[in-house]
Amino acid sequence: MNSSQSSQLYSGLSKEKLPSHVAIIMDGNGRWAKKRLMNRINGHEKGADAVRAIIETSREIGISNLTLYAFSTENWQRPRAEVEALMSLLIKFLKSEQKNMMENSIRLSMIGQIERLPEKVQTLVQSIMDLTKDNNGLRLNLALSYGSRAEIVRMVRMLAEKAKKGLIDPISITENMVADNLYTRDIPDPDLLIRTSGEMRISNFLLWQIAYSEIYVTDTLWPDFGKDEFIGILKEYQKRDRRFGKVNT
Ligand code: IPE
Ligand code: IPE
Ligand code: MG
Repeated sequence: MNSSQSSQLYSGLSKEKLPSHVAIIMDGNGRWAKKRLMNRINGHEKGADAVRAIIETSREIGISNLTLYAFSTENWQRPRAEVEALMSLLIKFLKSEQKNMMENSIRLSMIGQIERLPEKVQTLVQSIMDLTKDNNGLRLNLALSYGSRAEIVRMVRMLAEKAKKGLIDPISITENMVADNLYTRDIPDPDLLIRTSGEMRISNFLLWQIAYSEIYVTDTLWPDFGKDEFIGILKEYQKRDRRFGKVNT
């Protein structure tokens, strides 16, 4: 894209009011494939291209944090062949994106149960997180084997353990201490949560963290989600009046 095309595409988008964290529930790969009489796996493959486009757009615009819900704790209950295909796709995606991440100063991080992922995925994710740890551009945060309830249970156990050891007094537990014991401890709460494919639900994603996120649901199926629609949603976000329970004067 040349610079005049890009300035046209982004016109109307204010740099000052950009969300610092965008979280996306990437849904609809299966339906995309079904509509075309294809296998669900083909939908996931196509979905990976949409992921690339959204990462690129986020980086170009200057969004600091992008969290993508790629695999939930509930998704383990899908047919084994689909889970295996998703894990293989993840490996393929990460390998192919490694160079791009270094060239564009993207830092990879993840939230979720890394220990439940296949050994090969764990090693690869860990090695790219190590490789990119000093990159200071976009932070790409993948939610893998992520479930908000499991994350909350883990946090409660960590705090209870500290209390048992006498390191903290339960009465002095604060919201900040809760947040500090979640996977997202070093990432700001999402300003904007997008869900594709029209479902009006959260599906166990970032329950604590989205307390005041702006929500946008689009009917577009994830493989069809692209740059233009993403920018349109960012513009819509910039028009929202975020009151945080207060009264705007
Ligand atoms: C989202 O697409 C990808 C994952 C959950 C891994 P789906 O696979 O959920 O697609 P639909 O919702 O069945 O269309
Ligand atoms: C949410 O999509 C999880 C991810 C996008 C990874 P699902 O397709 O798993 O959620 P439900 O079943 O529609 O709630
Ligand atoms: Mg789905």
